[in-house]
Amino acid sequence: MTSLAVCPGSFDPITLGHVDVVKRALSLFDEVIVAVANNPSKSHMLDSDQRVMLARQALVGLDGVTVEPVSGLLADFCTERGARAIVKGLRGSADFDDEMAMSLLNRHLSGVETVFIMGDPTLNHVASSMVKEIARYGGDVTGLVPDAVARSLMRAKA
Ligand code: PNS
Repeated sequence: MTSLAVCPGSFDPITLGHVDVVKRALSLFDEVIVAVANNPSKSHMLDSDQRVMLARQALVGLDGVTVEPVSGLLADFCTERGARAIVKGLRGSADFDDEMAMSLLNRHLSGVETVFIMGDPTLNHVASSMVKEIARYGGDVTGLVPDAVARSLMRAKA
């Protein structure tokens, strides 16, 4: 039986840190669905279609990885897809505090376990929120996001 993991996030936009976590999830599971969801506590810069499109561009060529939008509860999505686990990256204790509550709630709702991967320390400074801020002011986001994403953000600003 193939093992399936779901890597959820708002991916607004997908960063090199996210790509690293997806690749490492793929080393643990046969298939990975990158689930582009909405985070009600954040205001998104990009709409869901744009976030999905950029994630697809960033992850092209990774066999076993697909990108899908999620409009409802992540727990329901995981149940429908038969996911073995949710995989999320942690950069440090601030991430942990948020993620712990979400992982327990997702397990409460659907029984799905969350597996945490420590983010690559060389990417510890990379966060979508900062990428958004830099892009809004017309700054250069190269080296923080995949090249295709950087080009697209800079084109949108021009
Ligand atoms: O990248 P983020 O913003 O930290 O990801 C958070 C996200 C989108 C995974 C979370 O907000 C989520 O799961 N949203 C979907 C709706 C849902 O299931 N909410 C309950 C979470 S316990």
